[in-house]
Amino acid sequence: MGSIISTEGLCRDFKIGDGSVVSALKNINIEIEQGKLTILRGRSGSGKTTLINILGALDKPTKGRVLFDGKDITRLSERKRDELRRYDMSFVFQSVALMSSMNAYENVEFGLRLSKFPYDKRDKRVREVMRNVGLDKRMFHRPSEMSGGEQQRVAIARAIAHDPKVVFADEPTAELDTATALHVVKLFKELVAEYGMTIIMTTHDPSMMDIADRVYTLEDGEIVE
Ligand SMILES: Nc1ncnc2c1ncn2[C@@H]1O[C@H](COP(=O)(O)OP(=O)(O)O)[C@@H](O)[C@H]1O
Ligand SMILES: [Mg+2]
Repeated sequence: MGSIISTEGLCRDFKIGDGSVVSALKNINIEIEQGKLTILRGRSGSGKTTLINILGALDKPTKGRVLFDGKDITRLSERKRDELRRYDMSFVFQSVALMSSMNAYENVEFGLRLSKFPYDKRDKRVREVMRNVGLDKRMFHRPSEMSGGEQQRVAIARAIAHDPKVVFADEPTAELDTATALHVVKLFKELVAEYGMTIIMTTHDPSMMDIADRVYTLEDGEIVE
C-alpha cells in the first residue's frame, strides 16, 4: 500500500540547563506503511517519545525531514500543523485523558465535535466505534466506573472515531497489567486488519513484538536492526 510517513536524516537535539546538548535522535530514516501496525520499541530514554512526537507533528526535528502523505510537514506553518493533528492524526497516551464528568459515549462524541465531524452522523459513528472496541454495552458508564483497560479502549474509540489517517500511541499499555495490555495491542491489530487503520505505537515491552507488522528498535537515539 506504500508508506504514509517517511523520515529523512531526522535528528533531535535538546539543550539542557548546563549548556550541554543531548542528541535524543540521530539520523533516523524510517518508513511507516499505510494500513499496518508499526511498533517503535526501546528502553526508557532510547528516544521513542521524541520520535513519535516528531512523526505526529507535536515537535520539530533539529535536522532532517518528515514526509506525511508526501508533504514535508516540518516546514508547514503552525496553523497547518495544527489542522493536520486535528483532522488527519490522533493520539493515545499512556495515562488515559478522558473527561471524568462525561460518560464513554460523551467522551467519544466530544472528540468528534472537535474534529468537526458532521453533526447528523455523530451518534451513529459513536455507536459504531464503541462496538469496534467492544464497549457497546458500557457506553454510558463514566470513566470512574470502568477498569483501566476499558478506559484505554474508550480513548482508542475516541482516537479512531473521526477516521484519522494515522493513530499515534505512546506507551498506551504502560499502565496496564500484562493481560490487559495484550488485549489493547490485539485491538490495535484488529483495527488495522479489519478497518485498514494505520497505527504507530511505542513500547518497552518485548512481549508485544510478534503482533506488529513492523518493528523499529531504538537504542540511544538510533535505529538498530
Ligand atoms: N525536553 C527535553 N529536554 C532535554 N532532554 C530531553 C527532553 N526530552 C527528552 N530528552 C532526552 O532525550 C532522550 C530520549 O528521551 P525520550 O524520547 O523521552 O525516550 P523514551 O520515550 O524512549 O523513554 C533522553 O535522554 C531524555 O532525557
Ligand atoms: Mg517515552
